[in-house]
Amino acid sequence: MTQLRSQQWYGGEGRDGYLHRAWMRRGVADDGFTKPQIAIANTASDLTPCNMHLDEVSLAVKAGVAEAGGIGLDLPVVSLGETLVRPTAMLWRNMAAMAMEEMFRANPIDGLVLLGGCDKTIPALLMAAASVGIPAVVVPGGPMMNGMFRGKRMGCGTGVWQLSEEVRAGTLSQEAFLASDRSMIRSKGHCNTMGTASTMAVMAEALGMTIPGTAGTPAPDSRLLEAATATGALAVDLVREGRTIGDVLTKEAFENAIVAIAACGGSTNSVIHLMAIAGRLGIELTLEDFDRIGATVPLLVNLQPAGAFLMEDLYNAGGLLAVLAQVRDLLHPEPITVTGRPLVDYLDDQPIWDPQVIATREAPLIPAAGEGTAGAGIAVLRGNLAPNGAIIKPAAATGELLVHRGRAVVFDSIEDFHARVDDPDLDVTPDSVLILRGCGPMGYPGMPEVSNLPLPQKILATGVRDMVRICDGRMSGTAYGTVVLHVSPEAAAGGPLGLVQDGDEIVLDVPNRSLVLDVPEAELAARTPSAALVAGFAKPTRGWERLYIDHVQGADTGADLDFLVGASGAEVARESH
Ligand code: FES
Ligand code: MG
Repeated sequence: MTQLRSQQWYGGEGRDGYLHRAWMRRGVADDGFTKPQIAIANTASDLTPCNMHLDEVSLAVKAGVAEAGGIGLDLPVVSLGETLVRPTAMLWRNMAAMAMEEMFRANPIDGLVLLGGCDKTIPALLMAAASVGIPAVVVPGGPMMNGMFRGKRMGCGTGVWQLSEEVRAGTLSQEAFLASDRSMIRSKGHCNTMGTASTMAVMAEALGMTIPGTAGTPAPDSRLLEAATATGALAVDLVREGRTIGDVLTKEAFENAIVAIAACGGSTNSVIHLMAIAGRLGIELTLEDFDRIGATVPLLVNLQPAGAFLMEDLYNAGGLLAVLAQVRDLLHPEPITVTGRPLVDYLDDQPIWDPQVIATREAPLIPAAGEGTAGAGIAVLRGNLAPNGAIIKPAAATGELLVHRGRAVVFDSIEDFHARVDDPDLDVTPDSVLILRGCGPMGYPGMPEVSNLPLPQKILATGVRDMVRICDGRMSGTAYGTVVLHVSPEAAAGGPLGLVQDGDEIVLDVPNRSLVLDVPEAELAARTPSAALVAGFAKPTRGWERLYIDHVQGADTGADLDFLVGASGAEVARESH
């Protein structure tokens, strides 16, 4: 083992070394200051219900660190919960990542255990750790128990979207709807659908950043604490062996993550998070990588929102490793995991215990592209409506709508949408294309999950449950529908989405990867965005929001701040005294 980074604080004989040791005594003997110092970056917070239990996980990690001869240090870091934080947790992802990065660098830390769960927490932790570059390993907080309502599985998020549409359609009472919330959220843990949180756990493991087999362990399951203890011990080994996050996160590891997420039917949000993490490492990951690789992958996991089951079912059916064993030939064999062994080494003898939950390669839920489908991955669309790209998840869409021509019904803000969507006089038919704009990173600000617009009541009343929707925002990983997302450039950045008018014809062609506004070029050039649209764009004058909109990049490259792309390393700045 080379000299520990923390020795730059604790190793000195002078006044500074004295100060650093003295305040950290609290029972630590002299030899404690020469042991690997492992920070447990903990996103536990009572206001992030999905991560509430991470203090307990942190204790288990700490026990493992001690067992292996290190010092475990709980480090509370910025926490972000999807359900409460306004205007959207995504506005604060980069802020959390920036704050975490600086605290990792500023403290006497040799290695990191990253504890996340709710959607933005694992991406922010990985962005931060990647920019510092020291050894790091993730323990995903795990999904909550299956929700059950009236004898049926009720998935987090997905169940709300479905039941609220039933209320609007008049097929479920308001009382029954309100009574269902406690059936949906039954325990600690993050959302139990294959939403963004579950997808981020899959991502972390496929990137090689967890002990293989950890991702998807339910939060209340005692095996999570067992994995946390083992991870604490591993963090000490990582430091001793000098294996850093950059040794694990290679371009090939990112490509493996794209395969894993596609096979699981993971969230569209994974696109911006993976690109942002890669950006911190100087790895070029493009929208085309997602389309190219995702198209080769069959959908194997039958989880809500695209399917029927929930995360607990996936874990019991064999978990992520059983899924990856089915697509082993699509994975790069070289990338190592945090253990030092390649991910593919863990894929021998990984049976599927429940073929209803995990399909085999031979009988996938959706075959890879080229067999009459778009494949399980994300499709990237381009055209004059999205010159820098837009994405759609064909697996969550309605097959017949993937090739569609319709007239635009335009909303200039989410408030405009709510005010008019159920107006009986709204000029809309099931063939219309609903457009919502001003919801990109700069415009809202923060790129909220509003793109899966509820359908107009009069359309729902006809029995129709899906329409083509187009937006420069995101959608919840728990949502579904024929929704074109992340349109770039966004309207607030001057994108052509801001020029669409009611009645314009829009042509969506997912098999040919195109999204076209069928308006003559000369006419478009003469148009300007409406005053109502421009008035709705965010115009913050101070604080993080100001910094954010001055520096945020487009969704097509991961929506990181321009000056946060790349790494500053672990170099210790000047002494404090
Ligand atoms: Fe936290 Fe879904 S709200 S994971
Ligand atoms: Mg705490």
